[in-house]
This record gives sequence, C-alpha cells and structure tokens, in this order.
Amino acid sequence: MTVPDSFQRRYLAKFNKSRISHRFTDILVVGSGIAGLSAALEIVSKTSLEVLVIAKSALHEGSTHYAQGGVAAVLEPDRHRDHVDFHVEDTIDAACGLADENVVQLVATEGVSAVEELLSLGAQFDRQDGEIHFTREGGHSKARILHSADSTGREIERTLLDAAQNENQITTLENTYAIDLVTDSVGACRGVLAHRPQGFLQMLWAKKVILATGGAGRLYRETTNPQVTTGDGIAMSFRAGATIQNMEFVQFHPTTLYVAGADRFLITEAARGEGGQLIDNDGVAFMKDYHPEAELAPRDVVSRAILDRMKKTESNRVYLDLTQLDPDLIVRRFPRILEICLGFGIDIRRQAIPVRPSAHYTIGGVKVDAHGATDVPHLYAVGEVSSTGLHGANRLGSNSLLEGLVFGRRAGRQASELALDMPENSLPFVPSEMEQPSRSTQQIPIDLRDLERSLQSLLWHRVGIERNGAELEIAKNQIEAWLSYVLPLQFNTPEAWTLQNMLTTSYLILTGALTRKESRGVHFRNDFPNPSEDWNIQQSIKRATNTNLEIKPN
Ligand code: FUM
Repeated sequence: MTVPDSFQRRYLAKFNKSRISHRFTDILVVGSGIAGLSAALEIVSKTSLEVLVIAKSALHEGSTHYAQGGVAAVLEPDRHRDHVDFHVEDTIDAACGLADENVVQLVATEGVSAVEELLSLGAQFDRQDGEIHFTREGGHSKARILHSADSTGREIERTLLDAAQNENQITTLENTYAIDLVTDSVGACRGVLAHRPQGFLQMLWAKKVILATGGAGRLYRETTNPQVTTGDGIAMSFRAGATIQNMEFVQFHPTTLYVAGADRFLITEAARGEGGQLIDNDGVAFMKDYHPEAELAPRDVVSRAILDRMKKTESNRVYLDLTQLDPDLIVRRFPRILEICLGFGIDIRRQAIPVRPSAHYTIGGVKVDAHGATDVPHLYAVGEVSSTGLHGANRLGSNSLLEGLVFGRRAGRQASELALDMPENSLPFVPSEMEQPSRSTQQIPIDLRDLERSLQSLLWHRVGIERNGAELEIAKNQIEAWLSYVLPLQFNTPEAWTLQNMLTTSYLILTGALTRKESRGVHFRNDFPNPSEDWNIQQSIKRATNTNLEIKPN
C-alpha cells in the first residue's frame, strides 16, 4: 500500500547539534507506569546499571494510576478452586482465536510471582477477615482479581514509584517529552531526542531503550484515558522502522459516566461483578436479551448491546443501577465512584448512574517478542504501547496490569543482561536528517486544539464500536488530507508533536480496520459482521520504504 507522502518524514524535530545538551545513561525507560517502573526496578535488582526514567507529564500521570478494577492472578488456587490453566483458558477464549498461547501461558504463570513481589513491596490490596479479597470481572470464570477498593492502579503506582525513588541507580525526570527514537546507520536505537520542561532539547543516549508510553485512547472523543495517552510511542516506533501490529483492535469500555462536564470517568466493571445492573432509558434491564452472561458478558458484547439499546430508546445513554446493592458495600468497594458521582449530584446508593461506552484500551501496538524486544535493535516496548499477543482480538479485564508487570520485568532483565556486555557510550553521532537549524522552516497558522477535536470526533463517529468500509474510507481520506499539511510542518512544542503522533497513530488504526474484512473481538464491521477463517491471523504494518507501507499477516 502506498503511504501518504508526509510519512517520508523520519524525525519530527530538527536542531543544531552544538546548541543542545547530551546526557548518557545505561538504560532509558520512556514512561513511568506499571510496565516502565517494573522494568526499571528489575534492572537495578540485578545489576549496577544506571536507569533514567522519563515521563511526559507528572510521574504518576498515566493509565496505571487511573486503573480501577484490579490485577488478575491465581494467587490462591485452592481457596477459589482456581488454577493457572483456567486463567489461561479464559484469556484465550476472550481473545477470539488470535491469542499467542505461549505468551498467555507465561503471563498467567509468571504473573503469580510478579504480583507476590508487588505485595512484598508493600502494595495494599483489599482484605476480608485478614485474607486477600478476590473479585470477578466479565470473562473470568473465577474470582481472581486483586483490587484496592476502586483505585487499584493508584495503589500500584504509589508502591512502584516509592520503590523506584528509593533506588540510587534510578533517576526520574518529569515533564520530559520524547520526540523521537534516534537510530543509527544500521537502524539500531541509540537513544531519544527529548524536550525538557524549560523548552530546550536534549539528546538522551542509552545502550538500551525501553518504551512504556501507554496507549492511544485519547484519539477518541469519548475515552476513559488520561490526557497523556496519545499514541506517541506507537508513532515514534513506526517512524523508527518498528513493526506495528493489530492496530484495528481498540477496546471500548461499556460503562463511563455520561454527564455533561464529567471527563468520561470510568465506572469499573467490578460494579457489575458485584451485582450492578444495566437498565435502559425506560428502566428496563436488557443485558439478558443480548447474552446469557448478561452484565458479565465480554466487554465488546456489552458495549454493542448498549449502543443498540440507546438507538432503540432514542437516548444518548443507559444507566448502571447499583441501588439494589448494600449501601455499606458501595461505600467500601466503590468509594471513589461514589465521591465523583456525588460531585455531579448523583448518589449512587439511591440513583442509577448515566453511562455509555468509550474508548479504553489499545490492544495493538509495537510488535514484541517474549522479552519485550521489538525488531529495532536495542529497542524494547512494554505495557499498552506494545503488542505481545496476550490479548488477541479482545482483552480480558485486569489482564493488562498483569502484562505490564510481567513484560516490564522480562524486558528489564534481558535489556540489562545484554547492556552489561556493551561498550560504554562513545561520542554521540547524530543522524544527518536531524542536523538542521532549529528555526521553523515552514509554518502556517494552525489551531492545534481545533484539529485535535476534529480528529477525536472523526474517530469516535467513523472508527468506533461499529464500523463499515464506507465510513472507514471517509475517515482515511480525511486523515490523509490532515497529514498532508500537518506532518511536514516544523513545530517546537510537545502539543504540536503530539498532534502529529495522533494523526500518524490514527492512520495506522484505520489501515488495520480497513484491511481486516471481518468482525472479530473488539473489531466489529457491519459490512462483514462475522469472523472469517481467512482472517485467523495477526496483521502487521511496517514502514518498509519511504513510500510503501508493508501490510502482512504474521
Ligand atoms: O472495569 C475496569 O475496572 C477495567 C479494568 C480493566 O480495563 O482492566
């Protein structure tokens, strides 16, 4: 497939080499959520290597911090008649034929010790009579989800950040925006060009780079994701020549608070796990009409059922009713949801919560092997930015924190073992395409915020929960038009580079969605409403040459 001419651009920023500073580290971790911090901690637990962790915003600000439901792991098989094999089976079932079964096995197995280590670092999960309390979510056949009320991610992030900040070998830098991965003449990753808070550029050189930049939920107008999830890691890896896979699989969460002014706050699936019921605008419970598991059906089924119900009742929302639950349970289990909803005048002990689906998780991403290594030498990717094969075409809730823990540790271990054998960083080279005056060479007045909103709206309406070829074509043409005048521009702010990344990542989602002519998992096309044997494959995209996009089955 021919790509837009604008994709010929390798680096977004240009600069004068003698005017920027250079900093060296052994291993650079880009991102400070569960996966990045797990990698950093693993490295320093085994070696004396120096690790630099950079974060686009505040260190805690990312999807990990906002994760509500929990982390799935079979920690006490006997008490719950559970087994790692059941966790494996549930994950494979949810993935609709596309899971990499070896990866599922290793995550479910190693996940147990990874969560035990989190406990030993001091993570506090809810307990009942002194024992850890495990809950259930859709698609899990057993109660195996550890949680910390309805703010599990916040507790995990706190635990890992505390541990990282106690390590002398780990340095953290906030508000440091990675603009591009820097690759040498043989295509190996040598570091990152970063924008520092005071507005200056800095080259961060490393023996190994571990990307942990999160997903791309913010490409959509309706999303549970925080501001920082704009697909930067996917776009910069694509520019650096990495293979990107399965981008058509964007998971939508069925229940986000839908009140004007509320930033699409997630209402955790655990609320349905504890007995919450979905009712439509006429007060009718409807999930039994769509799936035998009703409220605990897979997320894609619940999201589409809600859309259908909204259409049938001519409403822009449905409701999640918790009023039949014990009010004390609500206070204990869902304190944050209670507080947020009260802020909007809704007491969830007495009133149903207005909800509708929104974009939640980027299943596709940078293709990696079982150690988190990409096909760009010295570059690793972990967490939501990566595509390991664990989730296939549909992610089981609470498996992603687990994946971040396991793959963060695996990548950290391999990267550090290999880095120990590498020579010290020598004098920096700089690719010639980057060595230009930093002054803007081509500029038009452009309202970045307006374009960002238009993009988010386009994706929500045309590349959302239900798709079809005609709508996808319209969206692709529109994004190509935007790319043609935005990507060639020389910007000097993170907001503008972010927009360039958002457009690039959107294009990759669209290419995947248009090419996959079937419905599977979270990718639903009403012009091809069934799964097809022909598409029982993963799909990858690579910037093969400057003018071609190589799309192929894996
Ligand atoms: O519903 C939730 O709490 C989401 C969990 C997840 O996406 O893993």
